[in-house]
Amino acid sequence: MYILAIESSCDDTSAAVLRDGILLSNVTASQTVHEAWGGVVPELASRAHQQNIVPVVDHALKKAGISKSDLNAIAFTRGPGLMGSLIVGVSFAKGFARSLGIPMVEVNHLQGHVLAHFIREGEDDHDQPSFPYLCLLVSGGNSQIVKVNGYDNMEILGQTIDDAAGEAIDKCSKVMGLGYPGGPIIDRLARQGNPTAFEFSKPNIKGYDYSFSGLKTSFLYKLQDWQREDPDFVEHHKEDLAASLEKTIVDILMKKLRQAVKDTGIRQVAVAGGVSANTGLRNAFRDHARRYHWKIFIPKFSYTTDNAAMIGITGYFKYQAGDFCDIDAEPFARMQQ
Ligand code: KG4
Repeated sequence: MYILAIESSCDDTSAAVLRDGILLSNVTASQTVHEAWGGVVPELASRAHQQNIVPVVDHALKKAGISKSDLNAIAFTRGPGLMGSLIVGVSFAKGFARSLGIPMVEVNHLQGHVLAHFIREGEDDHDQPSFPYLCLLVSGGNSQIVKVNGYDNMEILGQTIDDAAGEAIDKCSKVMGLGYPGGPIIDRLARQGNPTAFEFSKPNIKGYDYSFSGLKTSFLYKLQDWQREDPDFVEHHKEDLAASLEKTIVDILMKKLRQAVKDTGIRQVAVAGGVSANTGLRNAFRDHARRYHWKIFIPKFSYTTDNAAMIGITGYFKYQAGDFCDIDAEPFARMQQ
C-alpha cells in the first residue's frame, strides 16, 4: 500500500512516499526567500509552494521508485498553518487524488509532529514509543506538553499562553541583529558561550502552561541597558548571550516537563518540532534520561522541522482506520476549527 504525503503549512514544501508504513522518500524544499525579511512572509511562502510542489512531488515519487499510478492514497496537512500555504498543498492533494481516483486523508500538522517518532526507515527500525507517552512539542508556533494515549488520542496537558519557544528564540535573535531563523544561529553560538553569564526572567505560571513573552521582554530591556554602556555589546558577548538565552528556555521547558512526568508517572518522554533540533534541549533530554530513568525519544534532525514523512505516517494510521476525508475538506489556519 503506497501513500503520498504533502506538507505545506508554513515555509517548507515537502512530499514523502511510504510503503506499508515504511518511509521510502522524504523530499523537502525549504524557502530561503524569507531570510531577507527576518521572518516568514505569507504571500511569498504561497508563491514558493506553487513553484515547488510539482517538482518536490515528482522527486519524491522518483526517489521512492514508483509512479503515480501505484499510489493508493494521498495524505495532506489540512492545518494549522498559514492559510495561503495550506491552500497550495490541499488543492494539489485534491486535484491529484481526484485525477488518480484514490482517497484522501487529512492530517493535523501538530499530530504529525507528535507522531514523527513512528516514522520507520526500514523493516528493522523498531525504536518507537509505546502508549502512553509524553511529548514536548516545541516549534516556531507551538510549545505544548502532550499526553499521547494512542495514534488518535492525545491530550494537551499544557501549552504556551503567549509566544512559542521557537518564536522567542527567533525574536531575541532578531533584536541581537542576527539572522533568521534564529534557532540554528543561537544554537551554534551557544556552544561557545557561558550559559550562566547572564540571567533573564523566568515565568511563574501554574500548571503545565508555558509563557515566553516575559523572557523576550526581559532580554530586550537588559540588552538595551547593556548597549547604552557598550554599543558593541552584542558583538562582544554574543556567545554568552546565546548560551544564557538557550539555557533559560531549556530550563523553562524541562521544569514543566519534569512536573508532568512526576504527576502522570509516565517515563517515556519524546520531544518534537523545530526546536527539538536544539543541542541544549537534546542534551537536557539525555541528562534527564540518566538522572530520572526516562526512556527518551529524540527525532532525527530531518524529522524535527516541517516534513512530509510525519504527515505520511499519521496518514498511514488514519488510512488503516478507514478515516478518509471528502473532496470539500477545507484547510484551517487555527486549531479551534
Ligand atoms: O517546527 P518548525 O519547523 O515550524 C514552525 O513551527 O514554524 O519550527 C521552527 C522553529 C523556529 O523558531 C526555529 O528557530 C526553531 O524551530 N529551530 C531551532 C533550531 N532549529 C530550528 N531552535 C533552537 N535550536 C535549533 N537548532
